[in-house]
Amino acid sequence: MTSFEIDESTRFVADRDRVTWIDRREVARFSERTRASNALRERALAVMPAGVPNSWMAGYYAHPQLFADHGAGSRFFDPDGNSYIDMNVSDLSMTIGFGVHEIEQALADQYRKGAHFLLPTEDAIVTAELLAALTGMPSWQFTVAASGSNTDIMRIARHMTGRRKLVVFEGKYHGHIEETLVVSQDGQNVPEYQGMSGRRAEDTIILPFNDLEAVARVLKQRDVALVLTEPAMTNCTLVLPEPGFLEGLRQLTQETGTMLCIDEAHTFSFAYGGLTRLWQLKSDFMTLGKGFGSGVAFAAYGMTREVADHVERHLDILHRRSGIGLGGTLYGNALSMAVARDMLEHVLTEAAYNRISVLGTRMADGIDALCRDLDLPCRAFRLGPRSGMCLTTELPRNYREARPSMDLDMLDARRVFMANRGYWDCIVSAGPQASFAHSPEEIDGYVAVLGEFMEELVRG
Ligand SMILES: Cc1ncc(COP(=O)(O)O)c(C=O)c1O
Repeated sequence: MTSFEIDESTRFVADRDRVTWIDRREVARFSERTRASNALRERALAVMPAGVPNSWMAGYYAHPQLFADHGAGSRFFDPDGNSYIDMNVSDLSMTIGFGVHEIEQALADQYRKGAHFLLPTEDAIVTAELLAALTGMPSWQFTVAASGSNTDIMRIARHMTGRRKLVVFEGKYHGHIEETLVVSQDGQNVPEYQGMSGRRAEDTIILPFNDLEAVARVLKQRDVALVLTEPAMTNCTLVLPEPGFLEGLRQLTQETGTMLCIDEAHTFSFAYGGLTRLWQLKSDFMTLGKGFGSGVAFAAYGMTREVADHVERHLDILHRRSGIGLGGTLYGNALSMAVARDMLEHVLTEAAYNRISVLGTRMADGIDALCRDLDLPCRAFRLGPRSGMCLTTELPRNYREARPSMDLDMLDARRVFMANRGYWDCIVSAGPQASFAHSPEEIDGYVAVLGEFMEELVRG
């Protein structure tokens, strides 16, 4: 058996008729409970495609469109007054919960003083100092989204190495960037979505995660500018690095003059200082994003001193000297820097991370117990606050092994089943995450509803 084949006896395969039956029943119930959302949707369709301001808000979900009204702590409310304990935490951009007082204060104070000047404020220095102390990356830049951070990083890496190519790992997501929105189809690189030129796909090499031999074969050509990877893959369920994989990646990139970026847009929420600090990782760049989990639109990237010196020497100076194409109008704005500083000083404390790690373990233990009780060939994913249900007996080592846990129809049915019982489930490619606002009882409640769903699925 090659590492990519899945033995059918070691994976959970849901009965299709049962999935459809549960889904239909739950969608009907959901529609009844969300009439105000439906009315808003009818109105919204006249002025926004699919009735949403961002296509992800419709494309992520198969059930009728839900609108949000407000949130408080661990839950949000829809316009009908239904509440949802949020296990998706807005795809890890709301990991601190709704309405955190310190952030509310920082936003109000800075807005009064001025949201943006297109000039640096002292908060930017403090934020960069705090990030440097926390992660070991000495120098920082700020953007509005991790997509922007990764775009800047690719440009710097290309300029520094004089090479064009990029290595990413199958199952990755690094933002809405043409070079990374590439998939391999019958041995050919093709754009992942429509409306893309396809030209950038030629520069991208897609390799299986946890396969150092494949990386070594490619890097020895010495034409790759950058290897871009998450420390653990989080966008195709959860794929952990095997012992030595990330260290090997560092060694191979250094030996071949290739740059390495650890994308912690998600995993910064898994551990204090991210997995870079937890696992003592070394790289040339580090990506952060999603307002560090505050829900405020900002992101960042860290770089070594050598990279920072290079950037400084090749700064673009408007109409006078063409340098590396970095930056953007709202990047590093005063409002976001005030929030970033406040997050690091007051919210993202080691104690808070320790607490969510305990909650994540509680969730994973609960999922393992329910798999045993129902005699399912399944187990829990676990990494700090991140958990979820792995639909195979063995944890995946790469995307192909993770695919069976992404049973889209079953997960759509599970999502609407949970929504009707007060839980907002994770998106299909990810896993539920314990947030700073969750209580142990809410975590237990999630596992209990998951158990109810699985029991109905397998026992009827
Ligand atoms: C690992 C990773 N990098 C980058 C991004 C892009 O983030 P954004 O959508 O904020 O640009 C994401 C988004 O989910 C991500 O998961």
